[in-house]
This record gives sequence, C-alpha cells and structure tokens, in this order.
Amino acid sequence: MKPICVLGNGQLGRMLRQAGEPLGIAVYPVGLDAEPESVPYQSSVITAEIERWPETALTRELAHHKAFINRDIFPLLADRLPQKQLIDSLGLATAPWRLLSDPSQWPQLFAELGDFIIVKRRTGGYDGRGQWRIRPGDKAELPAEIYGECIVEQGIPFSGEVSLVGARNAQGQSVFYTLTHNLHQEGILRTSVALPNAGNQLQQQAEKMLSAIMDHLNYIGVMAMECFIIGDNLLINELAPRVHNSGHWTQNGASISQFELHLRAILDLPMPQPEIIAPSVMVNLIGTELNPEWLGLPLVHLHWYEKEVRPVRKVGHLNLTHADKDALQTTLQALIPLLPAEYQSGLEWAKIKLN
Ligand SMILES: Nc1ncnc2c1ncn2[C@@H]1O[C@H](COP(=O)(O)OP(=O)(O)OP(=O)(O)O)[C@@H](O)[C@H]1O
Ligand SMILES: [Mg+2]
Repeated sequence: MKPICVLGNGQLGRMLRQAGEPLGIAVYPVGLDAEPESVPYQSSVITAEIERWPETALTRELAHHKAFINRDIFPLLADRLPQKQLIDSLGLATAPWRLLSDPSQWPQLFAELGDFIIVKRRTGGYDGRGQWRIRPGDKAELPAEIYGECIVEQGIPFSGEVSLVGARNAQGQSVFYTLTHNLHQEGILRTSVALPNAGNQLQQQAEKMLSAIMDHLNYIGVMAMECFIIGDNLLINELAPRVHNSGHWTQNGASISQFELHLRAILDLPMPQPEIIAPSVMVNLIGTELNPEWLGLPLVHLHWYEKEVRPVRKVGHLNLTHADKDALQTTLQALIPLLPAEYQSGLEWAKIKLN
C-alpha cells in the first residue's frame, strides 16, 4: 500500500495515522515547517487535515505534487466567499449572506438580512473564532481591518444543527454516515449524537446536497457538511474538505471510521457503505485535564490527543456506543460529576437526543 502524507499534524492527522496502522498503511502527518525530506512525500499520496497553509519549504514541494488529492479544492472551500458562491451556484440552501466590504453597508444589511447578523472571517476562523454576532447598534465594536475580509450571514433561528459526513471515490461512488446531531456552545462543538436510523427525509435531503457538491467538485475522500435544521429543511452552514470533529463517533460507532474511510477513498481501496453499529455519543474534551476516573465507566472510549491543555482548546474526546440507549444515558449521567460544570448542559442535551 502506498504511504500517505498528511499536511498538518494536529489531532486529525494523528487519528488518520492511527486508522492506517491496522491496514498496514503508513500515514505521516507533517507540520508545515518540517523539512520536505523528513517524509517520503515523493512516493506518497498527499492529503491534508487543514484547509489552508502558508508557503513553506514543505508546502511549496507539495503544491505541485501530482498525487495531492483535491489540491485545488482546498483554496475554494477555505475561503467563505467562494464556498458560499459555490453553494449558491448549485442551487443549494444556505444562510443568506453578503460580502462585507464597507461600514456604509450596515443599514442595508440590517434591512435585507434582519436584526441578527453574524460576521465571519473569510479565512482562518475555526471553533467560533473570527466571528462576531451583531445587532443594530453594535457595529462600532468591529475592528476596521475586517472590511473586505469577512462575509455576513443572516442569523438563523434553527431548531438544531446536524452534519453529514460522507466520502466519494475516484469512480464517483459515494457513501454516507447517518446524520450527526451537534450541540455547539460559543461556536465550538461540545457534544454529538448519532443514531442508526438512516432513510428519513432529512437524511435523504442531506445526502442529495452533499452528493451534488462532491460530484460537482469531482472530490475524492471524506467531506463534512454542517447544516441548520429549520422546519423540515436543511440550510448548509459550511463545508469541510476533510475528516471532521462531528464524525469522531465513527471510530467506535461504525464498522469503518471516517478516518479509515478517507484513507480508503484516497488510496482507491474498496469503500463499502459503513455499517452503523449502534447509537453513539461523542463528548469533546475542551481545555480539560485528563481524568483517569473516566476509564472507570465501561462504555467510555477515551481518545486523548496528547496536546498541552489550554482554555478552549480541543484536547481529546470521549466516544460512547451501545445498542441500549439506557446504558448510554446512564453513562452520560455518571460522567456529570467527573467533568467540569460546563459539560453538564451538553451531557443532558445528549441524554434527551437519545430518547
Ligand atoms: N448564520 C448563523 N445563524 C445562527 N448560528 C450560526 C450561524 N453561523 C454560525 N452559527 C453558530 O456558530 C457555530 C460556528 O459557526 P461556523 O460553523 O460557521 O464556524 P467555525 O468557527 O468555522 O466552526 P468550525 O469549528 O466548525 O469550523 C455554528 O455551528 C452555529 O452554532
Ligand atoms: Mg462549523
């Protein structure tokens, strides 16, 4: 099997490497400042766990590499302006948006988009960073340098958020996991719940939307689509051309994890529809020190990233999978005293989602 070089060496690269190991696939996550010669990039298939990168000795080498899968799709999706334009051009629903280029636009923006507007940096934002929630009267607080660098979106009064993680191979075949229900707080994903009941109306809608996008781009590998639920419909929030935090439950809750699925797709290996084993919950560990007591709960799968613990930093996650939802709910309840207080609302939310 060909080795794989992953541009970026964060937790996603780490979990891609872990997924490759049992299959005998050598996966090399590489930091941007690494010496190109430190990895066998010339004979590898190249992928990325980040969406954009500065020019370095390594990225210069990889930028022209023939085996860099989806190379030209990254810049398109890493900038919210062309990403939104792409979604519009395919006739897919997304939160109404405008390019924010000048402070004089504000009266018009409130008139057209309503009184709750979200300003988002075109590039570089993640986990809710690079965003401002704006109501009439607030706009003086925005730094002057953002004009031209941001889009604005209508604030959507969604009833919930879901994401679809899927993969497409070079033959144009696509497979999808079931929709994941996601709870974000302050723009950062806290908890996900996935249920094996595929085939409902929202699932079909989501698969059609993500298929249209992946087919149009001739995309290969795993892609994630984050959506807002509004009534019976989905609005696309954003797209990620990579494995995604909301797909982490598949490590323990699906017969093929999103990480393995991505490796299979980019190496052109067989890519059957993954089986969803049982209802699953993922709890993100954000700025929290490891507590060995979590391991006293038999359903807890700990995935620890071995990063320095800092506030609002994703440092690991807990996956729970079980056919008996009561067992999951009991485990969530037992986790409440083992985690800081800010986790409680997310754990309670997951218990309700399982009903
Ligand atoms: N138009 C909107 N209306 C209402 N809420 C929104 C809107 N856009 C974003 N949000 C909220 O903020 C969260 C983060 O927004 P978004 O996904 O755009 O940011 P991000 O920082 O790029 O996130 P990620 O870490 O997923 O890359 C969303 O999941 C949602 O909860
Ligand atoms: Mg997001």
